[in-house]
Amino acid sequence: MTDRMHELDPATFRSVLGRFPSGVTIVTTRSESGTLHGFTASSFASLSLDPPLILVCLDRRANCFPVFQAAERFVVNIATPAHADLAIKFATKGENKFAEGNFEFDEEGHPLLPDAAAVIRCELEQVVPGGDHVILIGRVHDARAGSDEPVMWYRGDFLHLGESAA
Ligand SMILES: Cc1cc2nc3c(=O)[nH]c(=O)nc-3n(C[C@H](O)[C@H](O)[C@H](O)COP(=O)(O)O)c2cc1C
Repeated sequence: MTDRMHELDPATFRSVLGRFPSGVTIVTTRSESGTLHGFTASSFASLSLDPPLILVCLDRRANCFPVFQAAERFVVNIATPAHADLAIKFATKGENKFAEGNFEFDEEGHPLLPDAAAVIRCELEQVVPGGDHVILIGRVHDARAGSDEPVMWYRGDFLHLGESAA
C-alpha cells in the first residue's frame, strides 16, 4: 500500500478528490489595518458541537494566507447558486474581490453575505499544519441560516441541488 501511495500522480489524486461532492463557501476577514480578504473554499466542515467548532483548509500559497493565519475572526458564507460568479471571483488571484456581491459588515467590520445559505462567524481558535495547507479552526460565536439552498461543487463544477451530475 505504501509503495503504491508513492506512485500516486497529482492529477489522479485531484480527480479522485473531485468525486466527493461538497458545498461552496466564501470565507472572508478583515486585516488589522482594515483591508478585506477572502477566498473560496470547498474544504469547510463541521468539527465539534460543544464547543462549537468548524474548520476550513487554506493553501499556504494563497495571497490571503498570512492575513487569515493572523486573523482574530473570520466569516464562512455558504454560497447559493446566485453566488457562483462571486465564488469564481474569490477563487481568482488578483481580483478586486469585494467590488461586487451584496456584502454587509458586522460590528467589527468583517464582510458577510446576508443572502448566503448560511453565515457562520468565528474566532480563529487554532491553525493546524496540514501539508501544503493549514487547517483554520474557528470557534463559532454566531451562526444564521438563510432561506436559499446552497450550491454544490462536484467534479470541478457547480451543481444545483436536485440536478443530476452529467
Ligand atoms: C470551488 C472551489 C473551491 C476551493 N476550495 C479551496 C479550499 O478549500 N482551500 C483553498 O485554499 N483554496 C480553495 N480554492 C482555491 C482558492 O479559492 C483560490 O486559490 C484563491 O484565489 C486563494 O486566495 P488568494 O486569491 O488570496 O490567493 C477553491 C477554489 C474553488 C473554485
